[in-house]
Amino acid sequence: MNVYRTDSNQIQIYNDDAMNLYEQWDSPIVIVCDGPYGVKGFKGDLYTPEGLDEWYEPHIAKWTEKSGPQTTLWFWGIERGWVKVHPVLERYGWEFRACNVWDKGIEHIAGNSNTKSLRQLPVVTEICVQYVKKPLFRVNGETMSMKDWLRHEWKRTGLPFAKTNEAAEVENAATRKWFTDDWLWYMPPAEAFEKLVAYANQHGAPQGRPYFSVDGTHPLTKQEWEKQRAKFYCPMGITNVWRQSPLNGSERLKKGTKAIHLNQKPLKFTRLVIEMSSDKGDLVWEPFAGLGTGAIAAHQLKRRYVGAEINADVFGEAVKRFQTHLAQPTLDL
Ligand SMILES: C[S@@+](CC[C@H](N)C(=O)[O-])C[C@H]1O[C@@H](n2cnc3c(N)ncnc32)[C@H](O)[C@@H]1O
Repeated sequence: MNVYRTDSNQIQIYNDDAMNLYEQWDSPIVIVCDGPYGVKGFKGDLYTPEGLDEWYEPHIAKWTEKSGPQTTLWFWGIERGWVKVHPVLERYGWEFRACNVWDKGIEHIAGNSNTKSLRQLPVVTEICVQYVKKPLFRVNGETMSMKDWLRHEWKRTGLPFAKTNEAAEVENAATRKWFTDDWLWYMPPAEAFEKLVAYANQHGAPQGRPYFSVDGTHPLTKQEWEKQRAKFYCPMGITNVWRQSPLNGSERLKKGTKAIHLNQKPLKFTRLVIEMSSDKGDLVWEPFAGLGTGAIAAHQLKRRYVGAEINADVFGEAVKRFQTHLAQPTLDL
């Protein structure tokens, strides 16, 4: 197996099937998945979206096994393919957050669509769907969601739920949001969690202590609680509709006049998703690296990166591209 590594090992691009590599990769904070779409888009892509669910399932199983509650998955695709894969992701515990739409504009189909024969509106979009790994808690051999675990732990204290407001020093947010059993539930912020934990362990039935512990020895700290959810830094002025014409100009890698890889993603979007969901030093996975757009984005953002590209020619182009970037890093911005 061929592999390219920077001197510091910060960036590693492998020429192999991603399935052979997951086991040796460290746990990711971000997974940028831009694999088969089911449109015969590149060598190895499926001809139709039928069967995409089965194709992805072993990969999803590995992502699930190796990810933690801080992991975000960005799943690129086209709508027809994504609908096939979404149920598998849900089944493996990935929670849908948002569907971001890359609107390529009318330019994408100009001169290319015959309204006399079309039976649907022309598609000019790709999507990049955000998923997070649901945190799960184990209690006496049973697996619980965060909501159920919070309620379970409070019940164990023997205190009424009404006391959670007093514990967190809020008017009613604890009973209305953080301990409710309905869809209005959301995760208590770390400061509130810290107060709830202190109160429960001070006033709860002594025999059940410690409360809000995952190891039975100490309650979760504020810092540990923060790590129970995926990172997200929402940028100002950006919505879930990303308007940009199809990739062309100097960013598009070409041999002569021909694009080297039809699915090369804009560096701008790849940087955006990585930056929104990780910190410097965090590990980014790109299991279907193509031309290694993620490697360049991760390097620019000072993240660590591992990527896999099964096709030796494409891998070679990705390495060449990365080396050019290293020599002239500002050209990619
Ligand atoms: C949609 S392209 C990725 C394009 C990439 N995002 C870019 O910007 O250049 C998908 C790539 O995944 C590769 N691929 C498909 N199956 C793979 C597998 N099992 N392991 C590694 N790479 C794979 C294909 O050869 C293809 O180049």
